[in-house]
Amino acid sequence: MIWTLIAQILGYTAGTLTESSIVHMLVSGLIAMSLRLSLPWILLNLLLPVIFLLPDVNPFFPLISLILLLLVFAPVLRTKAPLFLSNDLIIESIAEELPNNSFTFFDLGCGTGSVLRALAKKFPNGIFYGFELGVVPFFVAYILSIPHKNIKIRYKNFWNQDWNKADFLYAFLSPDPMKKVTEKYKALNQKPVFLVNSFPLHLHHQKEFIAGEQRLYVYKQE
Ligand SMILES: C[S@@+](CC[C@H](N)C(=O)[O-])C[C@H]1O[C@@H](n2cnc3c(N)ncnc32)[C@H](O)[C@@H]1O
Repeated sequence: MIWTLIAQILGYTAGTLTESSIVHMLVSGLIAMSLRLSLPWILLNLLLPVIFLLPDVNPFFPLISLILLLLVFAPVLRTKAPLFLSNDLIIESIAEELPNNSFTFFDLGCGTGSVLRALAKKFPNGIFYGFELGVVPFFVAYILSIPHKNIKIRYKNFWNQDWNKADFLYAFLSPDPMKKVTEKYKALNQKPVFLVNSFPLHLHHQKEFIAGEQRLYVYKQE
């Protein structure tokens, strides 16, 4: 990304490795804040340049960082859907579509489970399932969801789940898998309501909400 490059250039013209890393950290952190990225991304941008300093402290640190990054992002090579999170406006738009009586909700690729936790609080009668293949996001989702009795986080591939068991499906993935998602959805007997963030199905949608940079498309059985 261009702004990361700018931060690096400013950082590495700043002198010693320590000074460079601090400048890089501040510039990338400020740019992340000005782009209104979410808190985890701002923290990542602030902390990542520090990795360059840590070989002095612990020579294994770059290796540990690489393993951690792989645990978060390696499934992307298979799933073609990286980890990024739904924003608060999207969660509010999803909530507008959910009923107050009992229902089952599947988040196909739940990431850290933030959507499920926000909804599970608002809808105590709903049962919320999250399927996730990224090791670190799965553990974060699993641990943070323990206090919520109506959330079930599974380390499972969502393609192998029975989507007919859901009343509501939610997906925030990438353009790549959406044709296959559409085919699987079209083949269901009783079509659940499908709420799709940003990367639409190859179908006509009934409603659309604009939520900042994200968009929610709503598909209902016709
Ligand atoms: C863009 S994130 C969305 C996270 C969360 N649903 C949200 O909206 O905040 C997509 C997630 O789907 C996961 N994923 C992609 N394909 C998957 C699959 N076949 N089975 C389980 N998880 C998958 C990825 O690992 C990633 O964490």
